[in-house]
Amino acid sequence: MSAEFPYVRPRRLRQSPAMRRLVAETRLHPAELILPLFVREGVSEPVPVTSMPGVVQHTRDTLRKAVVEAAEAGLGGVMLFGVPAKQDAVGSEGTNPDGILQQAIRDVVAEVGDALVVMSDLCLDEYTDHGHCGVLAADGSVDNDATLERYAEMARVQADAGVHLVGPSGMMDGQIAVIRRALDEAGHQDVGILAYTAKYASAFYGPFREAVGSSLKGDRKTYQQDPANARESLRELQQDVAEGADLVMVKPAMAYLDVLRQVADASPVPVAAYQVSGEYAMVEAAAANGWIDRERMIMETLTSIRRAGAEQILTYWAAEAAALLK
Ligand code: PBG
Repeated sequence: MSAEFPYVRPRRLRQSPAMRRLVAETRLHPAELILPLFVREGVSEPVPVTSMPGVVQHTRDTLRKAVVEAAEAGLGGVMLFGVPAKQDAVGSEGTNPDGILQQAIRDVVAEVGDALVVMSDLCLDEYTDHGHCGVLAADGSVDNDATLERYAEMARVQADAGVHLVGPSGMMDGQIAVIRRALDEAGHQDVGILAYTAKYASAFYGPFREAVGSSLKGDRKTYQQDPANARESLRELQQDVAEGADLVMVKPAMAYLDVLRQVADASPVPVAAYQVSGEYAMVEAAAANGWIDRERMIMETLTSIRRAGAEQILTYWAAEAAALLK
């Protein structure tokens, strides 16, 4: 065969929508999308998050409606974040059985039952007045082992409220083991753990801080991972799986697709990715300026995250993406 003549024509498989559909390697489905939702204590109307156009801090009532819509859209699940009315040094509201997140879990489980997997953020940053994901030692550093005790208590109250999966996002060493033991000792063997396994100290969380009213002054570089490193994600994976994680997650998504691929190749449990607030805000801002095609961008980013190995995707566009897939 002559090297010049194009006997090999990859374009044959691209020539029509039907042909492209036939050979597509990656397909998105609403059932693998998870919608993060914020619920704020003490508000009578939803409060818009200005850095995330289209996202709100829900009231307990509007949260129930959002979750019913999520179920109707066929989503796989929701991830709930509480925004308490008061914060303190140890994040007391995070372990208050009647704290906003625990109330929201009960509301949502009562509303949708088993039609959706109900997940909750298990972390202290929404509840602490210093904004860190843990409690502080006398020198101001984040105290790993004292924080683990708080996480164990959070796991118990969230499980008592009826959550299906807890989502520890604080990146404390040993958090999965301690949470697993706390759940089991409290008789919650069937409550699972979606572990934030590879979580980077990322500027992409910027808009989220507004969404949860976080008062963080410094940064999280002593507990979240350095964006320069991929290898330690595999160590975190081994550790989380050994400690009993049921699913693992990589976060953020788009700037870490290489990490996602490595984790997906090595993981014996399902791998999720979180398309975070900054990823959402970038696309929304560019679209608002008329610089990009918003819907194509949403589907392309989700497809790429899926292609890189995520089997579940947390995205603020979950409901909209599900509608676009219909
Ligand atoms: C911690 C937590 C954060 C996010 C999810 N869980 C913030 C952080 O680690 O600083 C970020 C999510 C997003 O940016 O969309 N509770």
